[in-house]
Amino acid sequence: MKRLMVTGGAGFIGSNLIKLILREFPDYEVVNFDLLTYAGNLASLADIEDNPRYSFIKGDVLNAEAVKKAMAGCWGVLHLAAESHVDRSILDSGPFIMTNVVGTQVMLDAARHYNVERYVQVSTDEVYGSLKLNDPPFTEQNYLKPNSPYSASKTSADLLVRAYVKTFGFPALITRCSNNYGPYQFPEKLIPLLIRNAMVDEAIPVYGDGQQIRDWLYVEDHCRAIMTVLEKGKLGEVYNIGGNAELVNLDLIKMLLAELGKPESLITFVKDRPAHDRRYAMNASKIENELEWKPIFTPEQALPMTVRWYRENSDWVHSVITGEYQKYYNKQYGKKDEG
Ligand code: NAD
Ligand code: DAU
Repeated sequence: MKRLMVTGGAGFIGSNLIKLILREFPDYEVVNFDLLTYAGNLASLADIEDNPRYSFIKGDVLNAEAVKKAMAGCWGVLHLAAESHVDRSILDSGPFIMTNVVGTQVMLDAARHYNVERYVQVSTDEVYGSLKLNDPPFTEQNYLKPNSPYSASKTSADLLVRAYVKTFGFPALITRCSNNYGPYQFPEKLIPLLIRNAMVDEAIPVYGDGQQIRDWLYVEDHCRAIMTVLEKGKLGEVYNIGGNAELVNLDLIKMLLAELGKPESLITFVKDRPAHDRRYAMNASKIENELEWKPIFTPEQALPMTVRWYRENSDWVHSVITGEYQKYYNKQYGKKDEG
């Protein structure tokens, strides 16, 4: 049995990833290391918390001692913990630099200390900046041109990982994925925010003219791609991950409102996000051709599945909106706080 450390496992992608590993990758056990910031929600893992191949440690990636303790005995590391919301990074970039940049340095040093065999840095398409309408999709060769404090912090982390590969022969791989959607996403991001607001007949805020384009990927497809890179990726390489599913924000919003049976009159145009990236699109042919990964789900299939999930799990959404979810750790884990 190989032990994997997953950081940020109580977040949106991390919780989906841990469930996928426990379900479909029997050779791994998972240590979930997460600080439980506002974005961390252990209730998202309630159905697997008693699985003998799973354990949880509450800890901060900025705490080198806690990271070292948690990483002891790990064969590999999947580093997802991050501050992830662009709008928050515009309000205050401090936590983004600390967690995303300094936290990555702490993770890299601990992983070097233990000679872990494979380390995956989970990054984002936002490091490449913004595309014009007729530009070809981003490849791994594009310049890094981040435009928000969030994407600048993720880019900095990627550069640090690259430097460790070059300087120390460190066994890292980097994944850069497009926009994810699916179950357990914090309702500050467009899709869960929209579903939640529409369900209670509240306005849907649309930034600027709503003509921005994102490439959407169902979270389970991203998680499978991370595992593909972990198992089959070439050390030192970067892999783009995308759904080949570009959608204009306003079209996506209208599709979701139709699926929810709610009127387009809920759409409310608001002030644009500063430096709002106009378009992201990913060329994922490297991972598709070299590692034989492909998305399983299209938005036509998975957007309705996602709407259904939020409808059927209104308790989860309600506990996030009320803040009740933050009491879950103390209820289930008492005082097992590692730092
Ligand atoms: P999220 O905000 O839902 O979850 C982040 C998790 O990290 C939370 O559980 C939080 O408690 C934890 N965390 C934050 N600071 C921490 C710290 N100092 N120490 C330990 N844990 C800490 O984020 P997400 O959307 O699941 O994204 C996960 C990763 O994937 C991030 O690195 C993000 O940049 C990347 N990514 C996200 C998307 C997307 O569409 N959501 C796309 C591409 C890449
Ligand atoms: O591309 C990958 C990135 O996708 C990840 O690295 C980030 O962690 C993740 O948050 C996401 O970033 P975006 O900024 O693209 O996602 P967000 O859901 O915040 O916004 C999606 C689009 O919708 C974007 O063009 C902004 C717009 N938007 C967003 C919100 C929250 C609105 O028009 N109104 C809103 O209320």
